[in-house]
Amino acid sequence: MTTPFETALKKKHVVIVGGGSGMGKSTAELAAGLGARVTISSRDPDKLKRAADGIDGAVSVAPVDMSDEAGVRAWAAALGSVDHLVISASSAAHGGFAELPTADLRAMFEAKFTGPYVTAREVLPYLNDGASITLFSGVLSRRPSAGATGLGAVNAAVEALTKGLAQELAGKARVNCISPGLVATEAYAGMPEAAREEMFAQVGASLPVGRVGRAEEIAQAVIMAMSNPFLTGAVLDVDGGHLVKA
Ligand SMILES: NC(=O)c1ccc[n+]([C@@H]2O[C@H](COP(=O)([O-])OP(=O)(O)OC[C@H]3O[C@@H](n4cnc5c(N)ncnc54)[C@H](OP(=O)(O)O)[C@@H]3O)[C@@H](O)[C@H]2O)c1
Repeated sequence: MTTPFETALKKKHVVIVGGGSGMGKSTAELAAGLGARVTISSRDPDKLKRAADGIDGAVSVAPVDMSDEAGVRAWAAALGSVDHLVISASSAAHGGFAELPTADLRAMFEAKFTGPYVTAREVLPYLNDGASITLFSGVLSRRPSAGATGLGAVNAAVEALTKGLAQELAGKARVNCISPGLVATEAYAGMPEAAREEMFAQVGASLPVGRVGRAEEIAQAVIMAMSNPFLTGAVLDVDGGHLVKA
């Protein structure tokens, strides 16, 4: 029996900025498995190629740096028509309010807000009927944490962008946002292993589900956001219950 996900995605062009690692890569795997033609993008072409080589199905690579506006324009024009755009790419800056360098704060807004804004805008002319755009925020938008106030604010900005675009692009594209909780991805590869595992264990134990998330669990929500024709302007909290924990 054909599932609604296969019906929605088979032979569709799914473009994933951030598709070389983490939740973007897991989304690429699921979408390709459902018969989509997938393009994965980020800055590092070698990483993209390694990711594409590890995925069964029709996956191609198209490097882009979201902070290079002219580069994004040329990249978008070369994609051809697009059915579903997913932007999971970002980089985060941590630091207390008084300590976080202004340059780091600006770079984070560039990577997680302005870059996705420009990228979605430049892909807009190439979207097919029935298109969707899926952005990424994070649980800190509504569950702030000391040392991550700036990151919480940029996540909140992405959620506001989602809701505004869902209205402004009505009839052209559905726009949704995934808000993950803590998910074990390459984003934490730079941490010493012992500290990383301790953080995962501590946060996991505090959650209703008892553990941190896996990239493929978030990817399932992205597939739903792409496939469900009645879903727009939504922020999907896929966070193991982080927002409702004590
Ligand atoms: N992991 C978590 O616990 C967590 C929690 C809450 C929210 N989130 C959010 O969920 C999303 C996905 O997270 P993840 O952990 O799956 O991410 P990830 O594995 O760290 O992947 C992010 C990707 O973004 C790409 N990237 C960064 N800057 C870019 C730029 N300027 N242009 C193009 N690509 C760029 C990087 O690849 P290159 O280096 O090749 O460019 C990287 O592959 C992000 O928005 C993140 O903030 C994550």
